[in-house]
Amino acid sequence: MACPNIALIKYWGKRDERLVLPTADSLSMTLDVFSTTTTVELSPAASGDQVTLNGTEMADEPYRRVTAFLDLVRQKAGRFEAAVVDTHNTVPTGAGLASSASGFAALALAASAVYGLKLDDTELSRLARRGSGSASRSVFGGFAVWRAGQGTGDEAESSSYAEAVPTPDLDVAMVIAVVDAGPKSVSSRAAMRRTVDTSPLYWPWVESSRADLVDIRAALERGDLTAVGEIAERNALGMHATMLTARPAVRYMSPATLAVLDRVIQLRRDGILAYATMDAGPNVKVLCRSSDAQKVERALREGTSQTFIAHPGPGAFLRSGDSR
Ligand code: DP6
Repeated sequence: MACPNIALIKYWGKRDERLVLPTADSLSMTLDVFSTTTTVELSPAASGDQVTLNGTEMADEPYRRVTAFLDLVRQKAGRFEAAVVDTHNTVPTGAGLASSASGFAALALAASAVYGLKLDDTELSRLARRGSGSASRSVFGGFAVWRAGQGTGDEAESSSYAEAVPTPDLDVAMVIAVVDAGPKSVSSRAAMRRTVDTSPLYWPWVESSRADLVDIRAALERGDLTAVGEIAERNALGMHATMLTARPAVRYMSPATLAVLDRVIQLRRDGILAYATMDAGPNVKVLCRSSDAQKVERALREGTSQTFIAHPGPGAFLRSGDSR
């Protein structure tokens, strides 16, 4: 079982596509909603893996991504059996919130256990990273930082993983405003590649993101949610600026996204702590105090198709009966 995470300092851009090594560190909050539960069983007699998602057999690219990941696990374990993978997402279908982070964190944990790999959290995070970069952070509950690591090859492979960020007790929530549930026009993987390759704003943003990370860690440590929100919002807007200046441009924000951002500004004018972040899609996640979450949710309901309130959630875990 694993939950999605929302980055406050974004991962946007790889320095190594095959090993899924990012250009910079990122930092996220794992949520307590939309969990993914994945069961993996060995199927020695089968000629290939069988993968179902919410009861439907997976095919094409999503299937290939899962089998490539299982190949990596098998290679590490020195075993060759095929597997039957059954995944259930609790994210409401069609909400446009499906997450590769919870998916690959849950798969990394279940598959490594079934193939007999005994991994600690650091090793598990490294493995989950190979499925999807952001999955490295969903291994941990609460706040987590994913280190870009250094060097190339083996040194890089082993130095890039996430770890928990200890914080004082924070009165924090995240309101998720779904404005458009449709499929993305460009996958995040393709969009980040295009941004790195063509945006003149990309490297300046990476530099400011590195400074943002230092600042947000200090803000988290002193429990300063206003500063956390300010830094997260500017980091996300900066990431979107890099995409808007890619060639051709990638624009995930829609008029409805901007309308939600306006409402967030209005909430602040009304004295409520509220800061927005957006990923590779039009939906908006708003960081606020837990005690204000319902007020924020009500304010965001108009013009959005669904809203959800989330809090810091748990790291990936195996259900009883399994061994790790
Ligand atoms: C915008 O982790 O989905 O959500 O490593 O190519 O699978 P791949 O990308 P993925 O990218 C997430 C990008 C983001 C920002 C973030 O979560 O940090």
